[in-house]
Amino acid sequence: MGNTLAMRIDANEAGLAVTTDGASAVLEWSWIADHCDDVGSVDADTRQRRRNTYGNEVVARPELAQGDQQIDFVWADGTESSISMDLLASVLPTRHVGVPRPLVAGLGLDNDITLWHTGDQAAPPSFVASEIVGDEAVRQQFVNAIWRWGVVTIEQCEAGRAQVESLAGAIGYVRRTIFGGVWELAAEVTDHRDSAYTKVHLGMHTDGTYMHDAPGLQLFVCQERDGTGGESVIADGFAAAARLADDDPEGAALLAGVSVPGHYVEPGVDLRAERPVIATDSAGRITQFSLNNYDRSPFYLGPADRPFRAAYSAISADIEQAQCWHRISWKPGRAMIINNWRVLHGRTAFTGSRRFLGAYLNHEDLESVRRVFANG
Ligand SMILES: [Fe+2]
Repeated sequence: MGNTLAMRIDANEAGLAVTTDGASAVLEWSWIADHCDDVGSVDADTRQRRRNTYGNEVVARPELAQGDQQIDFVWADGTESSISMDLLASVLPTRHVGVPRPLVAGLGLDNDITLWHTGDQAAPPSFVASEIVGDEAVRQQFVNAIWRWGVVTIEQCEAGRAQVESLAGAIGYVRRTIFGGVWELAAEVTDHRDSAYTKVHLGMHTDGTYMHDAPGLQLFVCQERDGTGGESVIADGFAAAARLADDDPEGAALLAGVSVPGHYVEPGVDLRAERPVIATDSAGRITQFSLNNYDRSPFYLGPADRPFRAAYSAISADIEQAQCWHRISWKPGRAMIINNWRVLHGRTAFTGSRRFLGAYLNHEDLESVRRVFANG
């Protein structure tokens, strides 16, 4: 609160001019609209965003009322929200932009990868669980298919945790996180307040933007399903990055240069990390895609903020287009494994019950097993 006492705020047509401890910035109205932290905008417990403000690059000056702790707004469309003085104080001085990193064509991984720009182009093979575990040739095909497509499905899985462990063992081992080793995912599970444990539509995202080493693979094994909706939808982040690099090279370079902070908060947990949306190797080739708007933390980049948000909005809107999505419907015994360093996932809203067991695995273990097979 020390910062907020010294803070001076003036509203003008462009935005809020904020001065604190010698740092100052004009936070544009579009930025303010994107960073309101009232309970309608951000979940009070998890700090996850509830509103997406993609594409709102220009926002008109709202009506406002300034209090001691917050400023209340009524926006041109009638929406009401507010921003706390603490949040305004937290983004000054403005964040270092970093150096834009121009992308070069191609991937910083070996090239046995097929990009899919539309769901129709995705043709991941399906495997039978017992064959992956029991047949080395099938296990090699399984590993190579995950690498090529970023996703495969698995049929005839047995119910229970042992099957999750044995499928993970075909690649490496189950990684323990705050969610446990093998975790249960269902709307009825109340151990975590995260949006994943609900029935509403979940927008496209990667997991673990708040972890320094995001999970490399995510394995879901369906245990129970009845009702309607609830398909998993996935999109190829490498393909989206390549499209942006073609359409807007400067925007892609910003997404490769700016580290985006993320957070995960629940009682007893406060995880934070940051990395660019498009991580690249030293040559500028794509190695990892990370995007989770729900878990994005507040930050302000100064003059680069508007072009950065334009690029972030463009790639977010791109992957939310249904034509980009490969869809997977669920029934008990079906599993999906996705490369969380490449492929974004979401979920359509659903009715009824939908219960999974899942696990995270490390990316380096997928890389390792591929090399071992290739050299074998
Ligand atoms: Fe997720």
